[in-house]
Amino acid sequence: MSASDRQRRALVCVTGCIAAYKACEIVRLLQKQDIDVTVCMSEHATRFVGPTTFRALTHHKVAVGLFDDPEDPIHHISLAQWADIVIVAPATANIIAKMTHGIADDLMSTTLLATRAPILVAPAMNAGMWEAAATQENIDTLARRGVHIVQPDSGYLACGEIASGRLPEPADIVDRALAVLGSGGPLQGERVLITAGGTHEPIDPVRFIGNRSSGKMGVALAYAAQALGAQVTLVLGPHSVRVPASITCITAETASQMLDAARAAFDECSIAVCAAAVADYAPCRPADHKLKKDVERLDRIELEETTDILADLSSRKGDRTVIGFAAETSDVVLYATRKLATKGCDAIVANDVSRDDSGFGADTDQAWWIDATGAQELPCMDKSDLARVIFERALALRTEG
Ligand code: CTP
Repeated sequence: MSASDRQRRALVCVTGCIAAYKACEIVRLLQKQDIDVTVCMSEHATRFVGPTTFRALTHHKVAVGLFDDPEDPIHHISLAQWADIVIVAPATANIIAKMTHGIADDLMSTTLLATRAPILVAPAMNAGMWEAAATQENIDTLARRGVHIVQPDSGYLACGEIASGRLPEPADIVDRALAVLGSGGPLQGERVLITAGGTHEPIDPVRFIGNRSSGKMGVALAYAAQALGAQVTLVLGPHSVRVPASITCITAETASQMLDAARAAFDECSIAVCAAAVADYAPCRPADHKLKKDVERLDRIELEETTDILADLSSRKGDRTVIGFAAETSDVVLYATRKLATKGCDAIVANDVSRDDSGFGADTDQAWWIDATGAQELPCMDKSDLARVIFERALALRTEG
């Protein structure tokens, strides 16, 4: 089985630092991305978190000592070869120095020297140790050799100082790991534009016309594209989900702002996926002051049609692949097939947003893939899985076309 056919594997190396407990969250977040995780701990790390915790989380033996596994006399080599990525988090000044100088005197350092997998280092230490010339020069050397470094955050450190040296947020470390794992994937060299979230069309400075979009599908698409190797631009309207720090995100409030941002990013991209729930109508003349409650009936708010972003991009798509969504509550395939024709895109992902397991806010989606060859019902799946399927099909469209 080739590496691309099987589950991806991450070796998380935990060193002796107060932030070691945060590695549990890193493990969990990697697993949520369907990555098989094994943990290697330094002897010192075991003083901060027990190996049993990681064993229970990963269902793999936790690697600590060079000679702990009698069945595997060359444990460091098998670990080094097993991993598709090695993540050192938290990384102490000591392991950074060992990596820089090729010191291999325990299981972790020998594994780090032996591996050919990409290495991601997330340092965490006291500010003085971080700022020390030795550490800074070691970090520069590692970066020059192609080791990926997640810079430490500033904030409250265990020693009481407020300074640089804090382990970055586990989610940010995992985002970087996904980006590293994605390089070399089927979307390597591609720029992908994704519109996501909803829009807010102002009625006055405090009120707006909005919709229920959470942005979940669009952010899942951004994750998937990045994990497949693409550079992603996310044009994001109002949303309620976290956006990975590693993704270029342009925020837009209104349909018109989203149109401008999408048009600007479209020139550079080779695939565009319009997943945003864009308002079809916006108030013609939003009031520049708060409307007062001085009438019994508010007869009308005059609305005008917004520009259809998907149709606009599709009209000048050239050899780009453009995918749209269709949110329907009845006759899903019929309406979505009409949208494919009227909007001029290459494919539509249609779903029934009246179902509990599909559409706004849900974690899963039961969708139809509709392109020039017809409609195909997809099984109900996680939005992250659907996002992958969408890119696989977008790439297939290109090779078929
Ligand atoms: N879309 C867009 N710009 C708009 C309206 C819709 O880019 N102003 C895109 C959405 O991002 C989606 C597709 O068009 O990819 C279909 O959106 P949907 O809300 O399902 O349909 P509408 O075109 O708005 O039509 P209707 O409301 O009549 O179903």
